[in-house]
Amino acid sequence: MDQRMTSVRTFKTELSESDHDTLVDMVGWVDALRKQTKVSFLQLRFKGTSPSVQVVVSSDKLHADICVESFVRVRGVVRKLPLKARSSYPIEIHAEEVEVVGSSTPEFRSECPPQSHADTKLQKRHLWMRDPLFATITRLRAVLIKSIRKYFEDSGCLDIIPPSFTSVECEGGASLFRVTHPGKTSDKPMDVYLTQSSQFALEYAVPAQRQHCYCIAPSFRAESSHTRRHLTEFMHAEAEWMGIFTMDDHLDKLKALMTGILANLQALGSAELEELGITARVAELLEMSQHVLVLDHKDAIAECRARKIYKDEETKLHFEERDDIPEMQERKLIDSLGCIVMLVRFPKEFKSFYMALDPEDQTRVLGCDVEVPGVGEVIGSGIREWDEERLRSRLLESKLDPEDYREYLDLRKYGHGRTSGMGLGIDRMLTWIIGVTSIREVVTFPRFPGYARP
Ligand code: 4AD
Ligand code: MG
Repeated sequence: MDQRMTSVRTFKTELSESDHDTLVDMVGWVDALRKQTKVSFLQLRFKGTSPSVQVVVSSDKLHADICVESFVRVRGVVRKLPLKARSSYPIEIHAEEVEVVGSSTPEFRSECPPQSHADTKLQKRHLWMRDPLFATITRLRAVLIKSIRKYFEDSGCLDIIPPSFTSVECEGGASLFRVTHPGKTSDKPMDVYLTQSSQFALEYAVPAQRQHCYCIAPSFRAESSHTRRHLTEFMHAEAEWMGIFTMDDHLDKLKALMTGILANLQALGSAELEELGITARVAELLEMSQHVLVLDHKDAIAECRARKIYKDEETKLHFEERDDIPEMQERKLIDSLGCIVMLVRFPKEFKSFYMALDPEDQTRVLGCDVEVPGVGEVIGSGIREWDEERLRSRLLESKLDPEDYREYLDLRKYGHGRTSGMGLGIDRMLTWIIGVTSIREVVTFPRFPGYARP
C-alpha cells in the first residue's frame, strides 16, 4: 500500500477524551488565541455541542494572520492536559501544523458582543448566531421539536406533511398572506394564501388514516402587530385527535401533551438545559403542568374584575361578560394567577367558525386556549363542529362563502370522526421554557413586520 495512504489513515478526525498519544487531523474555528514568543495556545471549537479544545503550537509555526473565527486545520498529537492547565477537556492537542483554511479578521469580537442591544442582535443575526449561548438556544429548539415529535409518535399519531399554499382562510382574513400562484394558463395566475394553520389538512387526513394525525410545519400570519410574541412565520405543532366527544376528553389530551413534551425535553435536552442554567426551571414547569387551572371564559372575566385588570386602564373600565380579553390584560391575569391556565368556553362571536358549539350554552364554543405565565397563549385548540348545517351557518355568520369550504363541509357529510385538535406555537413555548420576554430572543431566524433577514 502507498506509504502516504497508510500514514493518512492513522490520523483521527474526531476527538475522544480517552485519546492519548493519538494522531489527529481536525478542522474547526478558533474561539480564542494567546500568542506568546515561543509557544502559542489556541482554543479550537470543532463541533457545535462540544466546548473548545486547547491546541498548543510552536509560535514560529503559526500563520501571522490567524485570529478569532479563522477556520483552521490542525494536525498533531493528543496529550494529557498538564496538571495546572485549565480547559474543559482533560486533553490538549500538540500541533505539528496549523493551517488557516478560512481566514477571518480580529474585528469579529466587536461586531456583536453579548452586551449588544437587541436591535444589533437582529441586524447581526448571522454573526450573533455564533454566540455560544445563542447557539445552545438553537440546539434546544431542535431538542424541543424532537420532544414534541416523540410525544406524538409515542401516543399513536401519524405524521402528515401539510401544504403551505392554501385556498381558504383558517384563522381570520386580517392575517392572510396572499401569494400569486401560476394558473392553468400563464395569462391567468390565481390567488392562493400561505397557510395560517395546517388544521384542515389534518382534519382531512384523520378519516383517511383512521387514526390521530399530527404535523410540525411553519404557519404564516401577516400580523401587523409589533408584539413580543408575534412572528409572521412560526413553527407550529398541530394534532387532530379522533373520537373526542367532550371537553373533558379534550382537556385530558392537552394535559398529557404538555406534561409529555416537558418530560421528553428534560430527558433529551439535559446538556442544553444545563448549559443555559434552566434545569431547575424546567423541573418546575413540568411540576406546574401537572396542576393546571381550567377556567371558563366568564370566570376569567370575573377574575379580571376582582383583580382590577381593566379593559381600559385609563378610564378604569371593566370587562363585560362577553368581551375578548386582549393580549396584555390576558397576560396580566395569567401572571397574577401564577400557573398554567386552560381557558375554555369562549363566546362564539370572537372565535373561529370551526369550533363546536357548547351543548349547554349554544352561544359559546368548546374551545380551549392554554396560557402560561410570562408568555400568555401557547396553544389554541378545541372540539370541531361536526354538524354540516351548523357549520354552514357559522361560515355565513363569519361572512365566509360555504362554497369555498366545500371539501371541509364534505368531511361533515361523510362520517365525521368527532375530532378535536390543537396548535402549539413552538417558538412561544421555547420563550416560556427559557424564561425570556421576547420571542425574538430565542428564534434563530425571526420573521416579523419589517424584518426578514438574513
Ligand atoms: O390559536 P391559533 O390561531 O390556532 C390555530 O391556528 C388552530 N387552527 C390550531 C389547531 O387547532 N390546529 O394558533 C395556535 C398557536 C397559538 O396558541 C400560538 O402559540 C401560535 O400558534 N401562534 C403564533 N406564534 C407566533 N407568532 C404568531 N403570529 C402566532 N400566531 C399563533
Ligand atoms: Mg389562538
